[in-house]
Amino acid sequence: MRLLVVNGPNLNLLGTRRPDVYGDATLGELEMRCRDWGRALGFEVSTFQSNHEGAIIDRLHAAIGDAGGIVINPGALGHTSYVLHDAIEATAIPAVEIHISDVTSREAWRAESVIRPACIGAIWGKGIEGYREAMEMLAEHLR
Ligand code: DQA
Repeated sequence: MRLLVVNGPNLNLLGTRRPDVYGDATLGELEMRCRDWGRALGFEVSTFQSNHEGAIIDRLHAAIGDAGGIVINPGALGHTSYVLHDAIEATAIPAVEIHISDVTSREAWRAESVIRPACIGAIWGKGIEGYREAMEMLAEHLR
């Protein structure tokens, strides 16, 4: 089964952007680890990153009939984008929201997620290991 890992705006800068908050792994390293973690759980992982909301929506639509699960770090779109909420819901594919940092202990606006109701679960504050947990959550859900 294919699993789609989506990273939203600004996550292309992982490794150099606020390493004190997001760690020093690059997006490429994160995606490689996701492929390994996914493989160990029996998933074939596809990865996608975009800084453009519409491109993310198009990628989610393309996952319909293809992916069995979605792991999505929406970046700040998770705090604001009802469009993203509706796109995740429209896929009807189980999705887990992930944030690398602890969004509950930063600015108040980061604690809010408008996409969460469209997801089966959410993980934050675990660094990039959170992606592995998100995949495990999906594996459990799909079992
Ligand atoms: C983030 C948290 C968001 O608030 C922020 O806008 C990001 C990254 C995280 O992974 O911790 O871009 O999603």
